[in-house]
Amino acid sequence: MNQPSIEHLFVITGTTRGIGQALAASALALANSFVVSLSRAAPFLRETHQNIRIDLNDTQRIGPAFKRIRIKRRHTSRLTHTVLINNAGVLDPIAPIGDCDDTLIARNIQVNLTAPLVLTRHFFHFSRPFPGCKWVVNITSGASRAPYYGWSAYGAAKAGLDMATQAMAMEFSRIDPTFAVCAVAPGTVDTAMQEKIRSCTANQFMRVDKFLKLKNSGELHPPERVAATLIRLLMDGRFKNGGRYDLREMGG
Ligand SMILES: NC(=O)c1ccc[n+]([C@@H]2O[C@H](COP(=O)([O-])OP(=O)(O)OC[C@H]3O[C@@H](n4cnc5c(N)ncnc54)[C@H](OP(=O)(O)O)[C@@H]3O)[C@@H](O)[C@H]2O)c1
Repeated sequence: MNQPSIEHLFVITGTTRGIGQALAASALALANSFVVSLSRAAPFLRETHQNIRIDLNDTQRIGPAFKRIRIKRRHTSRLTHTVLINNAGVLDPIAPIGDCDDTLIARNIQVNLTAPLVLTRHFFHFSRPFPGCKWVVNITSGASRAPYYGWSAYGAAKAGLDMATQAMAMEFSRIDPTFAVCAVAPGTVDTAMQEKIRSCTANQFMRVDKFLKLKNSGELHPPERVAATLIRLLMDGRFKNGGRYDLREMGG
């Protein structure tokens, strides 16, 4: 493999579709970038893109995944940005709590909250020797700040991720200020997650009408535009350690 010096190294979760797939494409479009996808798709290794197969329901596999990243130490001397984007997410279970499945509740908190924390811990040790700045971007949601009927697990996990972002920001500023972390809400984006929302009954999710209207009036944002905006804002230094951003308020 002919691997040039890397300036921008990205580790992105949930790249099989939607926002994660678009984020990987936007990151790959930067000059001298290398993208490590962590997804449930088949593994591959190309000149600037590696996919490591992982199911984020399994915490024990996260540490070993970082050890499988195939970049050579001599190619990291020009790094300016090393970035973890905790993008993978699940909405299920969508129902009032009494009707939720126990396993789906546990998986929701695992993928949306536990996995990003464990990923951040391993990213910290993996990237600490590298020059340049290191960023953790946690993909959050409007549901972290307002209760949605039928989304108790999802809202709780995303609210937890917002609080974890603030706590880790304090830690980074004291322990290693080359690290920073922020939370980014992407807005309402035209992905499979939105399809799932629209397929709900009003008994499962009371606000299904609102999301049907957003789709029918063409108000959902294309994932490619959302991803390009996020990567541009990150590269332009528009995010601050501990910040929480709504892309809709930032030209997304
Ligand atoms: N779309 C929106 O309007 C919207 C709004 C606010 C926030 N968000 C957030 O944006 C992020 C991306 O959402 P999206 O709309 O792009 O959703 P999506 O189209 O449903 O994609 C979710 C991604 O997460 C991956 N994933 C789920 N469970 C996983 C697991 N156990 N292990 C590994 N990967 C897993 C999926 O992989 P598989 O293909 O293997 O299932 C997929 O690549 C999520 O954090 C979501 O909460 C989205």
